[in-house]
Amino acid sequence: MTTLAEALRGGIESLAPATESARADAQILLAHVLGREREWLIAHADAPLPAEQRENFERLCRRRSSGEPVAYILGRAGFYGREFIVDPNVLIPRPESEHLVEEAIAYLDAGAIVLDVGVGCGAIACTIAAESGAVVFGTDLSAAAIALAEENARRLGVAAACRFYQGDLTTPVHERRFHAIVANLPYVPTADLPALPDPVGFEPRAAVDGGSDGLALYRRLLAQIPALLERHALILLEAAPPTIEDLARGVRAALPGFAVSIGRDYAGLPRYVRAASQGELPAPEN
Ligand SMILES: C[S@@+](CC[C@H](N)C(=O)[O-])C[C@H]1O[C@@H](n2cnc3c(N)ncnc32)[C@H](O)[C@@H]1O
Repeated sequence: MTTLAEALRGGIESLAPATESARADAQILLAHVLGREREWLIAHADAPLPAEQRENFERLCRRRSSGEPVAYILGRAGFYGREFIVDPNVLIPRPESEHLVEEAIAYLDAGAIVLDVGVGCGAIACTIAAESGAVVFGTDLSAAAIALAEENARRLGVAAACRFYQGDLTTPVHERRFHAIVANLPYVPTADLPALPDPVGFEPRAAVDGGSDGLALYRRLLAQIPALLERHALILLEAAPPTIEDLARGVRAALPGFAVSIGRDYAGLPRYVRAASQGELPAPEN
């Protein structure tokens, strides 16, 4: 019978032409098939791999070879130390978005009310709820994303602090006021989409396509934000590095008097705009 080490070698060879992470991916997929941690494989390299599990492993390797992201194959992805259920209806959460979480939790008091626009699987919203004690509202155009966000909130024990609504941008929550609004809306300029490496090609178009300059949705969102703010508020918007300066200009125009700055991601690239109110905002008219 094939040993784990032999199966792993075969898996790595089959994945090598398709991905630079062949070794890690093969280990993750084999560990998944066995219901074990990756470390366990290394300690049990000589253990036999039963035929049925070997076939399962080879099937998953074929899916990965065709470019399918590991997160969709496993049905889960890590974000800020927690595990989220994902499927091809939602974007796979990215480490870049963890900066929005860090900024938000440093700013928020327990009991604050937050809005996450374009909630996807709920990675940002559920993490802010779990880390800050805030109540987090989330919206998404996709009903499938809302269902997944609700499932993740339940699994992570933050369902009582999360309210998710299907609808366009802030429309479902237009009568509420927020201490913070965060958004990681689709922001890839349409023309750039074909050139982007996977997993983007496997992700829903509606989760990545930001229109001709990548900022179409943010322009609409910025027109809605001023009417939704509490007396003190923080805005955090993630976007593509080449579009950040334009987004920051749009934020300054929409939120005069706010302190606007640009935050960088783990790779040192400009990745998000932060806007914090200075002094009390005027009471909203409606
Ligand atoms: C880039 S994904 C981000 C998902 C999640 N926030 C994350 O960071 O993993 C953008 C999300 O915005 C949603 N979306 C796209 N257009 C929208 C709109 N007009 N109103 C609300 N949500 C929208 C998409 O369905 C998708 O789930």
